[in-house]
Formats: sequence, structure tokens, C-alpha cells
Amino acid sequence: MAQATHHFPKSFLWGTATAGYQVEGNSTDADFWDWEQQPGAVLNGDRSGLACDWWGGRWSEDFDRAAADGHTALRLSVEWSRIEPTPGLWDEDALDHYRQMVAGLRQRGLTPMVTLHHFASPRWLVERKCWETGEVVSLFERYARKVSAALGQHVDLWCTINEPNVFMYRGWAEGVFPPRKKDFGLALRVAANVLRAHAAAYHALHAVQPQAQVGLPIHLRPTLPAHPGFGPDEWAAQAQFNLFSALFTDAIATGKMRRIAAPALAVPAAKGTQDFIALQYYTTDVVRFDLTNPGELFGRRTFPPGAEVDSSGFYASYPAGFFQALKWAHHYRLPIYVTENGIGGEADDLRQRFLLTHVRQLWRAVNFNWDVRGYFHWSLVDNFEWERGWSHRFGLYALDTATQVRTPRPSALLYSQIAKTSTLSSALVAQYAPSLSAAMFPG
Ligand code: GAL
Repeated sequence: MAQATHHFPKSFLWGTATAGYQVEGNSTDADFWDWEQQPGAVLNGDRSGLACDWWGGRWSEDFDRAAADGHTALRLSVEWSRIEPTPGLWDEDALDHYRQMVAGLRQRGLTPMVTLHHFASPRWLVERKCWETGEVVSLFERYARKVSAALGQHVDLWCTINEPNVFMYRGWAEGVFPPRKKDFGLALRVAANVLRAHAAAYHALHAVQPQAQVGLPIHLRPTLPAHPGFGPDEWAAQAQFNLFSALFTDAIATGKMRRIAAPALAVPAAKGTQDFIALQYYTTDVVRFDLTNPGELFGRRTFPPGAEVDSSGFYASYPAGFFQALKWAHHYRLPIYVTENGIGGEADDLRQRFLLTHVRQLWRAVNFNWDVRGYFHWSLVDNFEWERGWSHRFGLYALDTATQVRTPRPSALLYSQIAKTSTLSSALVAQYAPSLSAAMFPG
């Protein structure tokens, strides 16, 4: 077997990603808080509760963990509902709390990346249907100004709205997230407002902080036609990709947003409003044409044959898809940050294989001189996984929600070795996943 070490650039950022609602606990002014109380909203009736108790201060010990493990960055989100619990009234204590957190990252040598909106919205915003009416655009711009003025001293890397494609699809088309609507036309109207809100925030962030670097994190799911060359499968795979994965990034590149059975919608204000591609990759879909599934653009999705599926059945590990996703990101000719990538499950062996095989694909991209600047693994500590509650766990560290005790999974050590050396080596593969050695490092 060959022995080799893959090197990443010295400046490459190694971090983890998370979201306020999923880790802070007791986000009682957010729409998701009400949603959690609805019967059937969350698997097993789970509740976020204290979550990882970051609002109670445990962010500090978790940042210590990240620093001790050699991480050099951390992505977190601030909660709009804490900062502006009532329209126009700012909670300066909440802003101060976040200021301490991002300063705490800097003190530990970690570069912060801050997301302004990660799925959860203030209750009042949703009650007023602001995403649907478009009122959100000016409100989000005002909020972005406020946050960047408060945190900009410590933060240069910003994400505006996390996974706008997931946010609009799950909330307004699939009806799983609040406000639980199932109306595809409405979902696409919301998408246009999300894009406008992003664009307004982009300009606001740059106005307050000229050196800001701003991205819009996209949940990218490559689609493979079930039967390559068979027209209907090819069409359905492409339609799903265009209207889900590529929708927002293409709209920013062209100033026009695709619609269904209508000419593209001109949103000129959005053109050019990102400084980097924020890529979030979990899994890949194989798509077969199916007339009985109009809700998913006549495509029926399965996972690639042979891909290992995680314990929740939600994601399958398919590293080749990660490379495809990176290639897609590269064609926009902007710097790339992988702002999320991970796999769920209590059993850690799949996570170890996932990490090794996905970091390998990352290195391939870097080795082609594509401008990939950092990687944020989802996630540092198990956290509240939306409608899958506590049943789907992504942490490098396991969390006991009853005691708040964190226990490192072997992946924490593996990731730490990658981050500390900024390399991926055959020795590491032999140590953590010997079954992969022959395929990854053939003689
Ligand atoms: C992403 C989302 C995260 C987390 C992750 C794991 O789509 O941004 O909040 O839930 O999936 O499923």
C-alpha cells in the first residue's frame, strides 16, 4: 500500500458549524419554539429545552474544546428573535452576549463566521407573514446593520440566510418547518423575497464594514439521473437541481430567478451579491422520473446504490458527490468555504469514514488550485436537529442532555489531527478506517 500525506494551505480554516436555535436553549421568542409545541412537529415529541446551554454560558467550554482540538475557525448564528424580540426594539444585552462570544473565539485564536438567520425567525415576523409579503426585506436590512455594527469589530466573515433553498422548501412547499404551508407557488414567491432580503443585507454589511466577506450558504444536493441518457430521468434530475440547489446562486450570478412555467423573475438588486460561495454538502440524490410525484417536480429520489445511509435514513455518505458539489461551486469563480458537511448517528464509525473520504475530496479540489479557503464540519457537539429532535446526532462530541456532559467521539480526535496538521495522511486512514486504506491509497 502507498504511503502519502495530503497537504492543505497554511491559511486553510478548519472549523465546525452550528446554529443559534440548535445550541442556545430556551429560544422562547422564535417561531420554532411555538412549532416545537405542536403535536407531531418533532420526532418523539422531543424539545430543544436547554439544548447545549450556550445561552447559559456553555459556549465558553465548547470554544475551549474547539481550540484545544486545533480548530482555527467556528461558524455560529445569531438569533434575530433574541436581538429584536419586539419590532424595532433592540435587546442590547443579547447583542452583548454575542459580542462576548465572537470576542471569545478571537481570544482563542479561532476565526468567527457569523450567520444572521439560520431557519428560526422572530415570532412577530412570522405572525406578520413578512417572508410572504416581502416586508422582511427592509426589516432584515435594518437587523443586518445593527448586528454588523455590534459585532463587526471581531467578525469579517458573514453568512446572511442559511440554506434559503431548504428554508423556503421545508417551510412553504413541504410544510415541515414553520409556517408549515404546502404551496409551491407561494414557496417560490417567498424565495424571491429571501433573495431580496439577502441582497439588502449584503449591501448593509458592506456599508457598515467595507472589508466584510459575505456569502449565502446553499444546501447543495447533486442529482444523478437513475438511467443516464433516459430523457425523462435526465429532465427530472436537472429540474430538481435547478429549482433547489442552483436556484439562489444562479440568481445572484445573473440577477434573474428561475420560476416554474413562467419567465425568470428579474431581481437586479441581487446580482453579484456574494463574495464567496458558502457550500453545504451532505448527500446526493438519484432521481427517477415519476408522474405521480408532481410535488417534487416529477422526480422520485433515492440514494446512490451502495452508499452507506446514516442511522436516521436522512443522509447517505457519497464522497464523489462532494467533489461534484465543489466543482459546481468552483465554476462561479469565487472563493469557496465549505460551511457545512457532516453525517448523523450515535455510532461513530460511519462518521470517521465520512470525514476521511470527504476531506480527501476536499483535498482534490484544493490540489486543483480551486480557491477553497476553509471547511466547517457539522457539528462540534450534538444539537437539536429540528424535526428530528435529539434522535439525529451530528456531534464530534456526544451530548448528554440530562447532565450537559460532553464526551468526545473518536471523530473528535480524528478531526483534531487533521486540523492540527492541516493534512490528511494514509497513516490516519490506517488508524481510523483501515478498511478504506487499499481503495484510498492503492499501491
Ligand atoms: C443543514 C442545516 C443544519 C443542520 C444540518 C444537519 O441543512 O443547515 O441546521 O440541521 O442540515 O441535518
